[in-house]
Amino acid sequence: MNIILLGPPGAGKGTQAKRLEEKYGLVQLGTGDMLRAERASGSALGKEVQAIMDAGRLVSDDIMIKLIASRIDGAAKGFILDGFPRTVPQAQALDAMLAQKGLKLDRVIEITVDQAALIDRLAGRFTCANCGASYHDTNHRPAREGVCDVCGHKEFVRRADDRPEAVRIRFEAYRQQTAPILPYYQDKGILTRVDGMADIDEVTRQIVAVLSKIAA
Ligand code: AP5
Repeated sequence: MNIILLGPPGAGKGTQAKRLEEKYGLVQLGTGDMLRAERASGSALGKEVQAIMDAGRLVSDDIMIKLIASRIDGAAKGFILDGFPRTVPQAQALDAMLAQKGLKLDRVIEITVDQAALIDRLAGRFTCANCGASYHDTNHRPAREGVCDVCGHKEFVRRADDRPEAVRIRFEAYRQQTAPILPYYQDKGILTRVDGMADIDEVTRQIVAVLSKIAA
């Protein structure tokens, strides 16, 4: 099963992708996480994208398409794309890439959320410094205070692009560059919306209900 999770910054794509990865044995291909790993490694690519990401702008299509092409091959049981595609050229490049490998997209899930809720989610977000699991100051704290539920690590980080000025630019990038891919998938008949204002477990239930129709 090959799926895309779409939605604005803070919609819950990363949170849900981690749960689906576990449930279905799919590989999560999170482009934001990949870029942050490049930065942490100090690679040339990481240095090139650092300022762009911190400002909240999108990295170039060329870089992103190469990055994702090199990872899709490793996803034998299927993949969850989280953060890619983010522009119409990326969506078209993905189609070409999948066709070349004899693969197809089963479903594109748009997680819809009110903008006011997103600002609060991003301001309160912190992630495990080891595995990237995402938490929130009030909505979703680790079960044991100060210890990651997923890997047991005890250090957490906050993202530079969750500052309000970068968040404004990320919303604008979503509105102008990413939202236009929704009709692209709507026209293909593979787009489904879920209500991302529901709590995290309920959003997972909605997505699982959509995917169970594919798996059936
Ligand atoms: P990326 O890391 O992909 O950031 P994003 O799309 O802005 O998404 P986020 O990770 O901020 O949010 P999310 O939807 O995953 O929400 P989360 O689950 O964490 O990209 C970062 C940057 O990399 C981009 O700005 C760009 O520069 C670059 N980049 C990446 N891909 C690119 C591409 N393809 N092309 C070009 N550039 C690219 O949840 C957020 C918070 O809310 C958490 O605290 C969570 O606990 C909480 N939460 C989640 N769900 C709920 C819920 N239902 N109720 C209450 N709280 C919830």
